[in-house]
Parts: sequence; structure tokens; C-alpha cells
Amino acid sequence: MTSHQLSSGDLLADRRAQYALQYAEGGDLGAAIELQMQALELAPDWAAGWHQLGIYHEKAGDLASASDAWRRVLALTQTDIFGAGLKLSLTGQAETPPAPPSEYVEALFDGYSDRFDTALVEDLGYCVPERLTALIDAVAGTEAQFAKVIDLGCGTGLFGERIRLRTSWLDGYDLSRGMLAKAADKGVYDHLGQADIGMGFDPGEASGAIKADLVAASDVFAYFGDLDGVIGMAANLLRPGGLLAFSCEAGPEGADWLLQASLRYSHGAAYLTALMARHGLIVERLAREPIRRDGADTIEGFLVIGRRQAGDSVSAAVAPDRLTGSPDPADLTDDAKGSGPARLM
Ligand SMILES: C[S@@+](CC[C@H](N)C(=O)[O-])C[C@H]1O[C@@H](n2cnc3c(N)ncnc32)[C@H](O)[C@@H]1O
Repeated sequence: MTSHQLSSGDLLADRRAQYALQYAEGGDLGAAIELQMQALELAPDWAAGWHQLGIYHEKAGDLASASDAWRRVLALTQTDIFGAGLKLSLTGQAETPPAPPSEYVEALFDGYSDRFDTALVEDLGYCVPERLTALIDAVAGTEAQFAKVIDLGCGTGLFGERIRLRTSWLDGYDLSRGMLAKAADKGVYDHLGQADIGMGFDPGEASGAIKADLVAASDVFAYFGDLDGVIGMAANLLRPGGLLAFSCEAGPEGADWLLQASLRYSHGAAYLTALMARHGLIVERLAREPIRRDGADTIEGFLVIGRRQAGDSVSAAVAPDRLTGSPDPADLTDDAKGSGPARLM
């Protein structure tokens, strides 16, 4: 969702904002800012309009004015569906939250659900479900069957489609009703439910008492900074010996987690392995690979498979041969190298 899609409730203000958008798209940010401010004079309580003004100021390099606009958004809204707080923290004007507001993520993916599969897979070379499945095969074997699989942040079901034939029960949970509706259309899940997996998600209640053989979170942890709670919750969903398969965006060496300009979070490998140890997961695989494009850039991610230890003892073992490093750019596929700018989320 972009903020200019929401109406101010004032026709004239909407028209000015529409012109502002056209100027911005044409590269004239000065005119865009001027027109957006005129729109906001007519509709001073229009939170989406202030958010958009912040984006124009940011693009024009005026972070102080951008921050003022985003502060105004926060003052006008009870729930930050625009992610204005995240924007503000990137300017250094506020602390970085350990997770984005759920309402922001929900609105973001509700807005993308109709074009998610084409935009992500075809335009951005998104390949996490495919690569995660390949890594699961490498650990469990290509013939392995899973009695129960839980797909956390299942989205439109791109991972579910790949694992369906390997399991007799497949649960999917997601924040976004729009994404869940698309997943339901595919008809591959035995049960779908709306849930915030970061807050108060009671796996027992939601998914039944039977523990899973495989829990997956494909391109979901980029919407969390601090992963302690969510990895602990995922580990609790597993039976001893069960597998947790997830991806993250790869962060700079030494950093635990970092909010990026894309408003997604990146994570460090050492942080991931420490958290897995804390929650009784043995690292079976941790591979650094290109996972999709963002504009002209290739995003590298960590694809991780952990195995829940039997019993209560928590001491992770990471076999050195299970860790694979950054690939040589020469080895990237054409898809991963990118053929032109495209952007989503
Ligand atoms: C990039 S999509 C990936 C979807 C799917 N797993 C795939 O690989 O195609 C991220 C998904 O995570 C969901 N998500 C993000 N934060 C969440 C949360 N706290 N609780 C539940 N779902 C969440 C989003 O709604 C979105 O559908």
C-alpha cells in the first residue's frame, strides 16, 4: 500500500495530491512538495497525506522536514499503518523498534496480495520457497514425508505449494487476510488462520496439541528485528527431532539485527546461531545465498535449517561443513544478477 492511494475526503486536496504525485514521478520534487503542502492546508488531518509529504522530503534529501511530517502522522493516527515510526527511526530521530507495527505489516501485505506472486516471483526473482525446500531435502532426504507441517507467515502459499505433497497435514498462519485469501484459493492447506506470530500467538490453541515435524518461515523474519520470541515460539511447535526452516536477509558482520531503508530487517549469522542454541535447535544448515532483487540490487539472505534437540538440554552444535559462505558473484544465476530495477515492499 502507498499512502497516496488513500483519499483525504476533500476532492480538491485529493486532486492537488494527485498532481503532486505526478510531479514526483516526473522527478520534480520541489513542485511535488509544494502541491502536497497545498493539499494538506485543505486537509490538515490527513495522515496519509503527511506520510507522503515525508517521502517527498526524504527523496529531496531534507530529512528534518521528512521527520516533522512523519511525527505529524504519528500524532494523527492511533495505529501506525504507514510505518512512519520506522521511517523516523531510520533518520535517527527515534529508537528502532524490535518489530514493525503489526497493523503496518498487515496493511502492506493486504495491499500487495493481488499482485504478490507475479511481482515477487516473476519481477523480483524471489526464490526462497524453492531454495528452502532444496535445503530441507538436503537435510531430510528427497523422499522424506512430514506428518505435520506449519507454515508461519504463509502468505499466498508459495512454500505451501511446494511442501504439500510431502505432508499429510499443512497449517498456514498469516497476519494478512488478503494473503490468506490467496492461499485459500490455492487449496493446498488443511487449515489456515489469521495470527500475529510475534504477539500472543498460542500455537497449541491455534494448531492443536500435535507437534510439527517441520515448521517453516519463508521470508517472514525480515519483518522482525528481535527474533528471540518468534524463534522460541517456532521451536516450541516442533517435536524433538523436528526441523525449523527459515530465511532472513543477511546483515553486516557483527550486527544482531538492523532496520534497513527497505523497512525490512536484516540479521547476522552469529546472532541466528546463538538464538537457535538458546532455544534448543541444532544448526543443520546455514547457507548464504541470493534470495531476490530489490530495485537494481541483489538481496542476499541466510537460509537456515535447525533441528530441535531431543530432551531439555540446550547446547547447540554447529558443524563447520554445514555453514556455507557468500557465493562468488560469478556463480549467480541470470535471475539473481538482476536484469533491471524492480521494487516491492
Ligand atoms: C514476503 S511474504 C512471504 C510469504 C510466504 N512465506 C512466501 O514465502 O511466499 C511475508 C509474509 O509474512 C507475513 N507476516 C509478516 N509478519 C507477520 C507476523 N507478525 N505474523 C504473521 N504473519 C506475518 C506477511 O503478512 C506476509 O504474508
